[in-house]
Amino acid sequence: MPHTLKDVLPSSARLRSNGHLEIGGADTVDLAREFGTPLFVMCEDTFRERALRYREAYTDADVYYAGKAFLCVAMAKMVAEEGLGLDVASGGELFTALKASFPPERIIFHGNNKSDAELEMGMKAGVGRIVADSMEELERADAIAGSLGARTQMMLRVTPGVEAHTHEYIQTGQEDSKFGMSVEGGVALEAAKRARDLPNLDVVGFHSHIGSNITGVEAFLRTVEILAEFCASVRDATGIQPAELNLGGGLAIAYTRGDFPARVESFATEVRAKLQGEMERLGLPVPRIGVEPARWLIANAMVTLYTVGTVKEIPGIRTYVSVDGGMSDNIRPALYGARYEALLANKADVPSDRVVTIAGAHCEQGDLLIKDVSLPASVGRGDVLAVPATGAYGYSMASNYNRFPRPAVIVVEDGDARVIVARETYEDVTSRDL
Ligand code: LLP
Repeated sequence: MPHTLKDVLPSSARLRSNGHLEIGGADTVDLAREFGTPLFVMCEDTFRERALRYREAYTDADVYYAGKAFLCVAMAKMVAEEGLGLDVASGGELFTALKASFPPERIIFHGNNKSDAELEMGMKAGVGRIVADSMEELERADAIAGSLGARTQMMLRVTPGVEAHTHEYIQTGQEDSKFGMSVEGGVALEAAKRARDLPNLDVVGFHSHIGSNITGVEAFLRTVEILAEFCASVRDATGIQPAELNLGGGLAIAYTRGDFPARVESFATEVRAKLQGEMERLGLPVPRIGVEPARWLIANAMVTLYTVGTVKEIPGIRTYVSVDGGMSDNIRPALYGARYEALLANKADVPSDRVVTIAGAHCEQGDLLIKDVSLPASVGRGDVLAVPATGAYGYSMASNYNRFPRPAVIVVEDGDARVIVARETYEDVTSRDL
């Protein structure tokens, strides 16, 4: 079935009778005028609808939103309201969650190089799970838990040796990974044995995250097989039967009309059936499943608005349409070759019949947001460009390159807009300079 821009935009996206793009009941051209550009516009309903879909698909599992895709205090509150848990991967993400009074017992703490200070922060806060990424971290966590008198529930991050089909920068399940302990190499089993003897920790289960933006379920099913076999070896070696298996995040979304988003409902059904079958075969009780989606929940909930500036036509070569942001608010095209769609928010009813390249305003040729995308032929200075599906790993990977202040993030719902992250000023950008 051919896809349309609708699959890429927030669910509340509409065409207004004035030809403008509407999101969350608000005219995006007015939003650009009122809040300035570049601007991240988040449709609250889209996020909440997707959170509900995930929870309904996994009623019998723990669903953690992975904050690395986008986190701020207001977002942590929305995640809590939706009844989700939260995956944090740094002291900063944990701090943000705590500042939002996120229930600590619903937090899972990740990272391949957590410092003592971060482990201590997590334990003092009473986070629900800390995921040990290495044997060394497991020992260190035990010592810290002992010194704090804080018994801690841990999971072991294991590397299943599965290669998911996605960009190599976001593949994490393969043997050659900086994350986790190898199942095949035996380190994971050694850690499980060692954990049994550590006095201050309870290892409640195993965790794996095989990668991100994965379209097919096969790699997940293979991971379930490997983890089930691993659980059986742990039982044989220690007598312990893990209570939880966390399969991480990774479901793909539609960035462009050609993309097929993963259907969480069918993923959940297949994964659950596989786990059940494997555990029965091995004579093990079925552990509680955990999942950690991020991109699937938040990517399509946002669009970035830019103002068009210089249009440079090089006859017979290409037309560059420059906007007032770029790789400082969206590094994904430069880093992963990621593709996006674009439309003119103030001419959303005009056919797109001119192929152009959207360039950022940064001082390098590689700062191209979208190569060869169709826009209305009249595209010119002052138009408002909307780039959909920027909610995941957009703002969270933003930088101050060229001393650009980071954009604002606003939430729209029923025609109301509120700022959840304020736009930086030049003063902010220089405020740490001594
Ligand atoms: N859990 C763990 C342990 C993770 O490392 C990640 C993502 C997730 C969950 C969430 O994965 P998701 O559902 O979003 O695929 N910056 C890259 C993506 C990096 C992913 C890092 N880990 C990008 O922009 O594509």
